[in-house]
Amino acid sequence: MPPNPRFDLTGQSVIITGGGKGIGKVYAREFARAGARVVAADIDGDAARDVAAEIVSEGGTCLGVTTDVSDAASVEAMVAATLGAFGRIDVLINNASLMSTLPRRSFLEIPEEEWDRVMSVNLKGLFLCCRSVVPHMRDQGRGKIVNISSSRVWEGVPNRLHYTTSKAGVIGFTRAMAHEVGAMGITVNAVTPGYTLSESQVTSSTGNYLAAQAEGRAMGRPQHPEDLVGTVMFLSCPASDYMTGQTINVDGGKAMH
Ligand SMILES: NC(=O)c1ccc[n+]([C@@H]2O[C@H](COP(=O)([O-])OP(=O)(O)OC[C@H]3O[C@@H](n4cnc5c(N)ncnc54)[C@H](O)[C@@H]3O)[C@@H](O)[C@H]2O)c1
Repeated sequence: MPPNPRFDLTGQSVIITGGGKGIGKVYAREFARAGARVVAADIDGDAARDVAAEIVSEGGTCLGVTTDVSDAASVEAMVAATLGAFGRIDVLINNASLMSTLPRRSFLEIPEEEWDRVMSVNLKGLFLCCRSVVPHMRDQGRGKIVNISSSRVWEGVPNRLHYTTSKAGVIGFTRAMAHEVGAMGITVNAVTPGYTLSESQVTSSTGNYLAAQAEGRAMGRPQHPEDLVGTVMFLSCPASDYMTGQTINVDGGKAMH
């Protein structure tokens, strides 16, 4: 029996922003393992190229591209590189964000420039990536966009107020954009991960903070990047073609919204 096309990502051209490190790197590997042709687009170009080299060495297809999602020219160049390599764009995973490098502190202590930079990467970055990619998806007659938000929005987690605010913006962006592009055959959905043990979180959090993160979760264990892959892939597959403007929470059953 041939593979079920509703869940088939073979040959799909998938851009993963922030694909050089952390959870994005895991998405890149897992999409490649599912047969997709992946672009890992990261401001850390060396990391993106390392991920690509690793995937290619294992027989997968991946291009690593230096990209600053907050810079329109950089995003345009990344989209041009994707089209040059793979000829089309089927899926855009907007995963890049400023988070782990941000100090946890009262909002009274957040410098104005840091607030602006977070909005520039976490929100303008989404806008610029979608603005560059959607015309190609429109011409193809279909496309899938997955925006990574955070379960902080449901819990109101304090001490990175700019970050939490930007991730709430991702949900509004997702809903409104779904209306703008639905008739083009493009779906736009969001995922809210709970606190996840990505490389950067492990190195930027204290032992006590890490230990507290399994508390209150129905699953009773910490969250790993791999726990997010199934949901992100479902939203990237034809199986979710009649679902748009939605936000799926993946946090092991902590916030039940
Ligand atoms: N780890 C968690 O606990 C958690 C929880 C909820 C949501 N998230 C979200 O999941 C996503 C991945 O999280 P992570 O833990 O891997 O984060 P991370 O900080 O480890 O990785 C972010 C990636 O984005 C890249 N990046 C940063 N600025 C960029 C820019 N201007 N242009 C392009 N790339 C840029 C970084 O180089 C890095 O590779 C983020 O959107 C994050 O906000 C993470």
